[in-house]
Amino acid sequence: MAGRCALLLTALLVSTSVSAAPILKRNSYTFVLNNPYGDAIFELGNVSYLANTKHPKVVLSTENFKPTASSSIPITVIKTNVSIISKELLESTISSYLDGDDVFNFDFLAGLYITSTTTASMDASAIEYLAEFNTNFLFSDGSVSGEGSFTKLTVSSTAGLPSGPFLATLSLSTVSIASVYRLYPDTYRTFLFGAYDSNDGQERHNPLGVFLPKMWDPMIPVPSRIYYWEDGRPLAGERVAVKDLYDVKGLQTSGGSQAWAYITPTSNGTAPSVQRIIDLGGVIVGKQKLAQFASGANPWEWQDEHYPFNPRGDGWLTCSASSSGAGCSIAAYDWLDYAIGSDTGSSMRRPAAVSGTYGQRPSQGMISLERVIPLGAATDTGGVFSRDPYKWIKFSKNWYIPPLHQDVSITGLSPLVIPDSDAFPKTILYPIDYLPLNNSAAEPILQEFIANLTRVFGMTVKKVNFTATVQNWTDPVARNFTTLNAATGVINSWTAWTVIGRPLLTTWAKLFDGRFPPIDPARRLGWKNFNESLVNQTRYDAALITKNRGVKWYETHFQYSTPESCSESVMLYDIGSGGLPSFREQSLNDSPGASYLAVLPPTAKITGANICPIFGCADFTIPIGQVPYQSNVTFHEEMVPVTINMVVKRGCDFVLYNMIEKLADEGVLKTVKTGRTAF
Ligand SMILES: *[C@@H]1O[C@H](CO)[C@@H](O)[C@H](O)[C@H]1NC(C)=O
Ligand SMILES: *[C@@H]1O[C@H](CO)[C@@H](O)[C@H](O)[C@H]1NC(C)=O
Ligand SMILES: *[C@@H]1O[C@H](CO)[C@@H](O)[C@H](O)[C@H]1NC(C)=O
Ligand SMILES: *[C@@H]1O[C@H](CO)[C@@H](O)[C@H](O)[C@H]1NC(C)=O
Ligand SMILES: *[C@@H]1O[C@H](CO)[C@@H](O)[C@H](O)[C@H]1NC(C)=O
Ligand SMILES: *[C@@H]1O[C@H](CO)[C@@H](O)[C@H](O)[C@H]1NC(C)=O
Ligand SMILES: *[C@@H]1O[C@H](CO)[C@@H](O)[C@H](O)[C@H]1NC(C)=O
Ligand SMILES: *[C@@H]1O[C@H](CO)[C@@H](O)[C@H](O)[C@H]1NC(C)=O
Ligand SMILES: *[C@@H]1O[C@H](CO)[C@@H](O)[C@H](O)[C@H]1NC(C)=O
Ligand SMILES: *[C@@H]1O[C@H](CO)[C@@H](O)[C@H](O)[C@H]1NC(C)=O
Ligand SMILES: *[C@@H]1O[C@H](CO)[C@@H](O)[C@H](O)[C@H]1NC(C)=O
Repeated sequence: MAGRCALLLTALLVSTSVSAAPILKRNSYTFVLNNPYGDAIFELGNVSYLANTKHPKVVLSTENFKPTASSSIPITVIKTNVSIISKELLESTISSYLDGDDVFNFDFLAGLYITSTTTASMDASAIEYLAEFNTNFLFSDGSVSGEGSFTKLTVSSTAGLPSGPFLATLSLSTVSIASVYRLYPDTYRTFLFGAYDSNDGQERHNPLGVFLPKMWDPMIPVPSRIYYWEDGRPLAGERVAVKDLYDVKGLQTSGGSQAWAYITPTSNGTAPSVQRIIDLGGVIVGKQKLAQFASGANPWEWQDEHYPFNPRGDGWLTCSASSSGAGCSIAAYDWLDYAIGSDTGSSMRRPAAVSGTYGQRPSQGMISLERVIPLGAATDTGGVFSRDPYKWIKFSKNWYIPPLHQDVSITGLSPLVIPDSDAFPKTILYPIDYLPLNNSAAEPILQEFIANLTRVFGMTVKKVNFTATVQNWTDPVARNFTTLNAATGVINSWTAWTVIGRPLLTTWAKLFDGRFPPIDPARRLGWKNFNESLVNQTRYDAALITKNRGVKWYETHFQYSTPESCSESVMLYDIGSGGLPSFREQSLNDSPGASYLAVLPPTAKITGANICPIFGCADFTIPIGQVPYQSNVTFHEEMVPVTINMVVKRGCDFVLYNMIEKLADEGVLKTVKTGRTAF
């Protein structure tokens, strides 16, 4: 079977004690290997990098230069306006690079490319400063002069070269300047593989195909943030990981299945939703693990992929499903800004709950899922995980734009109208059939959050019985949970069967003498026994009509608009485990101090997670605190995140973002940390 490229990358461990001599500030360039795409993997000290040498950022012409064995030079590009370049200027520029970027370090001072908008010269202090780093090469487009003990090369000038660290490769008459990426080990194993923009002019991404043998981790390439400092686009330089359901040109889309990857070609196009992120300046850094074909499989049911790890608590908590890699990676890595997932039944909201991060199920139809492996089509949605409420809102408002809204033929619902206003809800609905939180130590955190909401917005709390309210509607279809659940069941199986299941089974049987493909148990029997006389397009179409009826009743009788509010109420509930730990290891969840996920509350007819997939509403997971538990894994006290879900009427997403932004301004909602604890 087509395996992932697993090239060896030696992890150098440099541990010799360093003397005080300033000249040792810099580690030298060590070439490791070229990856299959012709790009260079190298090391500086104990840090690994990738350089886009196959398709460099720019190729500059230069005066004749006789290349030596060491013709690859880590360089730093500095741009200035001044005429006298002093030590102070260099030092403050370099210090801003170190502060604002995790890719740049002193090791890139083997060479300096310096340019000024005016005729400039380096003074003695600057020359002396560079000597501390043993800077060997000075590149200049002629604007800057300076007398030092370095090799000086005059190169053609270029506007296309941003500031920051690069790898320069010298040849007889050219200097190729390649973008560099720092390689981070994915220590929580949330990715399938790292990826980077090939810069080939065809908008293709390359898989990195490098992993760290010592710890089995795939390496993830992230470009210097400095490259984007002069780029005004909303997501310029933000690093974004993508659930492996979305197509990215040049990368394989597997849906978490090697069998599916085997029978499908590498993507020859990028999903419009991912393209939008790239157009906004976002950087795609890799493909992430998911429950196979976006099922809701428990951790212990994963076979094809190894289940990712959650950094929270004892490190043995569930990442939930299906956007498992995405949620846990955002809780794990400061070097990652966003992760894109999808939500059909809970797959954004529950991974956000167990990782203590921000994640949403937007209103039904908010974003195109063209070139994304479907599950339920009319119940599928796309979302983004983030640690920071402001960054999360900025991404969301720039991503969910009208041209990317889904056609009504896909949703079966009315066209979306998304006001971006402060028409906030007046009522907090507290559903007594879903709350209080299961862990009595967590409920006071929720009560404090509710008190904060009422204080900031002057809202009133109304206790409702959601189940009784819906069952009290007069429409026999809209009030019947059995009917609504059955319709959702049809929606959630038919599209995945026609687009994935049927072609996979047919193709595999042809290739392997009638055999069934090796897939996880979540889909095996459902597809083995799929009966098109029971579930088919006719029933799917009927299910869309049922769904539409439920949505209309919900929006007229439960969460509706008034002249003052987009959604008169915001409903709170918990999609997580109510402040109890839930584990990746099944038997640990049988303890009284732990919980399974997706537990149906005793008096409810549907899980809270199912409310918005049925009624089309917007449902956001918001981290509000944490509570301790005694771990049976580390045998130490640990913290588990407490989150709450905020639900508003379909179309009121942006009003809810504005509300969340106000809560962040008021210090109610906060940026969560990476690692063991969110707060
Ligand atoms: C790498 O080296 C730097 C000093 O050069 C040290 O601070 C850091 O801890 C090292 N990291 C690893 C992972 O060995
Ligand atoms: C050059 O000057 C302009 C205008 O004062 C300023 O906006 C810009 O940031 C400066 N560029 C550098 C590299 O210092
Ligand atoms: C992309 O691939 C699809 C199916 O794999 C194929 O139908 C289509 O023609 C390809 N498009 C291009 C531009 O190669
Ligand atoms: C309530 O708001 C205050 C700030 O006004 C904040 O310090 C506290 O953490 C908030 N608590 C919750 C649970 O929202
Ligand atoms: C909510 O209402 C339903 C239907 O009337 C009832 O069976 C259930 O017990 C109620 N739940 C609570 C918590 O009161
Ligand atoms: C059911 O509907 C009736 C009539 O509209 C109303 O009086 C009653 O309060 C409702 N009950 C619930 C639980 O919503
Ligand atoms: C819901 O619909 C099902 C199937 O149509 C029907 O059998 C059941 O009696 C209905 N339930 C209620 C409470 O009306
Ligand atoms: C499919 O469902 C139909 C209708 O219930 C039934 O008659 C038929 O036997 C089923 N087919 C299989 C293969 O189970
Ligand atoms: C589709 O399913 C319904 C029952 O669910 C069945 O009555 C109908 O015959 C099926 N249509 C086809 C084309 O199999
Ligand atoms: C740890 O194990 C003890 C003994 O089986 C049990 O009572 C407790 O609930 C467990 N704690 C957790 C957090 O699962
Ligand atoms: C609450 O936790 C207990 C275990 O302590 C579990 O049996 C029960 O199903 C949980 N209830 C919900 C609604 O999650």
